[in-house]
Amino acid sequence: MLSSTLEMKNISKKFGAIKALSSVNLSVKKGEIHALCGENGAGKSTLMKIVSGLYPAGNYEGEIFVDGVLQNFRGTRDSELAGIAIIYQELALVKDMTVCENIFLGHEYTKSIFIDWEKSFNEAKKILQEVKLNVNPSDKISQLGVGEQQLVEIAKAIAKNANILILDEPTAALTEKEADNLLEIIKELRNKGKTCIYISHRLKEIYKIADRITILRDGKTIITSDKKDLCEDKLITKMVGRDLTEIYPRVEKKPGKVVFEVRNWTVQDPETGLKVVKNVSFKLHQGEILGIAGLMGAGRTELVMSIFGAWGKITSGELYLNGKKLNISKEKDAIQEGIALVSEDRKRFGLILGMNIKENITLSSIENITQFGIVDENKEISKSHKYVRDLKIKIHSIEELSGNLSGGNQQKVVLSKWLMTNPKVLILDEPTRGIDIGAKFEIYKIMNELIENGVCILMISSELQEILGVSDRILIMHEGEFKGDILYKNASQEKIMRYATGHTKGDELTV
Ligand SMILES: Nc1ncnc2c1ncn2[C@@H]1O[C@H](COP(=O)(O)OP(=O)(O)OP(=O)(O)O)[C@@H](O)[C@H]1O
Ligand SMILES: [Mg+2]
Repeated sequence: MLSSTLEMKNISKKFGAIKALSSVNLSVKKGEIHALCGENGAGKSTLMKIVSGLYPAGNYEGEIFVDGVLQNFRGTRDSELAGIAIIYQELALVKDMTVCENIFLGHEYTKSIFIDWEKSFNEAKKILQEVKLNVNPSDKISQLGVGEQQLVEIAKAIAKNANILILDEPTAALTEKEADNLLEIIKELRNKGKTCIYISHRLKEIYKIADRITILRDGKTIITSDKKDLCEDKLITKMVGRDLTEIYPRVEKKPGKVVFEVRNWTVQDPETGLKVVKNVSFKLHQGEILGIAGLMGAGRTELVMSIFGAWGKITSGELYLNGKKLNISKEKDAIQEGIALVSEDRKRFGLILGMNIKENITLSSIENITQFGIVDENKEISKSHKYVRDLKIKIHSIEELSGNLSGGNQQKVVLSKWLMTNPKVLILDEPTRGIDIGAKFEIYKIMNELIENGVCILMISSELQEILGVSDRILIMHEGEFKGDILYKNASQEKIMRYATGHTKGDELTV
C-alpha cells in the first residue's frame, strides 16, 4: 500500500484582494506520478510555489506534511532539505554561466574551500547523459536553445537528489520527440522510487505517464482521481467547466495572391559563424496559414527571427511584401512594414514583466494611439480591454503587473500586443505554448478571423497535432533547409517526422 508522501491541506493563498487558492487539498502518494491539471490561472503554479518554499510559511493558510511531518518552510532551502525540488514554468538558469555551474549552483562540490571543478564537470557529464542532453558541461547557457535549457533545469533537479520532483510544464518548450524522451526519464525516475508532480497542458502526456490526476479550477480542487477512472473528455469538461466539442476549428480557405515572399535566405549565427538557415525560399499567400514543422535546432526560430530583423547575420536573400522589396535591418523596420512576430521566448522578447498589462499590450503600437505626442489614454484602455475580452485573458485589472499573471495568460498578453499592431504578416513561434485547451481553441478562432481579414500567418509549432489541425500548408525544416512542402490534406504525423529527420523529396513518399 502506497502512503502519502506529500499532503497539502486546506491551502489558501491571496495576492492582495485576489484569491488564488481556496482551501485546496492535494495528497500525493509515494512513488507515483501525480498530474496537476487546470486552465491558465487555475492556481497550479501558485500551489507548487508554496510547496517549494518560494511562498514561505505565514504567506498562505493551511498545512503541508511531508511523510507525515508538518512542515514550515521558511524558504526554498528548507523545502530542498525536505527532499523537494521544483522545475519552474519559467526558466530560471543563469544565462552567462556554464551548464556545469548552473547544475550545481548553490550545491557546489568543494575541495577545502575551493570548488572542485573536475568532480563537478564529471558529475555534470553523467547527469547530462541521464537526461540525454548532448552538450558540453562547459557550454554557456546562452548558447543553448530553450528546449536544451529546459533539460539543464531537469539535470539540476536530479543533481539535488530530490525525492519529490515537481515539474511545472517541463515539456512546453520541447518538441514531441524530446518531450517523449523526457517522459521516459520521468518514468525511469519513478521506477527508481521518486515521486513526481507533473503539470502540463498537453493532455496526451498526462495520459501517457500519470498514475493519478488532480484538477484545479479557479483556485479550488475539483477532483482527484485514478487516471483510469477519468477519460479525456471528462477531464476537459472538469477543467474548463463546460463541454468542448472540437479543438481545431478549421475553416476552408482559398489561398489568394502571394503576399509575402522570402527568396534565397541564408543566415549565419553571429557568434559561431555557423550557417543556420541555408538558402531558404517560400511564398505566403493571402488567406493562408503556413505551418513550419521541424525538430528543435532545425533553424525555424532563427529563420523567423532573422526575417523580423531581430537576430542573425543575413548573408544572402530578399524579402518581398506585396511585390515590394523590403529593407529590414531591425525590428522596428519590420513592424513598420506590417510584420509582427510572437516569439517563443516571451520573457526575452515580448513581455516586460515589470510593466502593467495595458502598457505591454500597447507597447509596439504606441504610435497608433498617440496624437501630437500625447498618448490617448482612453484609446489605450479601450483597446486593451478589447483584447483582454477577445482572448479571455484572466486578469483582475489592466493595471496589474504582467509578471503576476499565470504563464498562459502572459502569452495571451504578448499575442494581444502584436495583434494590436495590425500586421499584414503575423509570424507565430509556438503561439500556444503553455496555453490551456480552452484558450487554445480561442486563439485558433482568432487566427481564422485574422485570415478572413486578409492577414496571412506563418506559424511554427512543435506540436504535430497543432500543425496538422491548423495549417493549410506545411513546410518542414531540417538543419536549416526546407525538406518538404505539403498541403494539410496530404499530410500526416509520419510524413512530417520523416522530413523533419532529414529525408528528402524523392523518397517513396508521395506528397
Ligand atoms: N505574484 C502574483 N501577484 C498577483 N497575482 C498572482 C501572482 N501570482 C499568481 N497570481 C494570480 O493567481 C492566479 C493563479 O495563478 P497561477 O500562476 O498559479 O496559475 P496556473 O494554474 O499556474 O496557470 P498557467 O497554466 O497559465 O501557468 C492567477 O489569477 C494569477 O493571476
Ligand atoms: Mg503555471
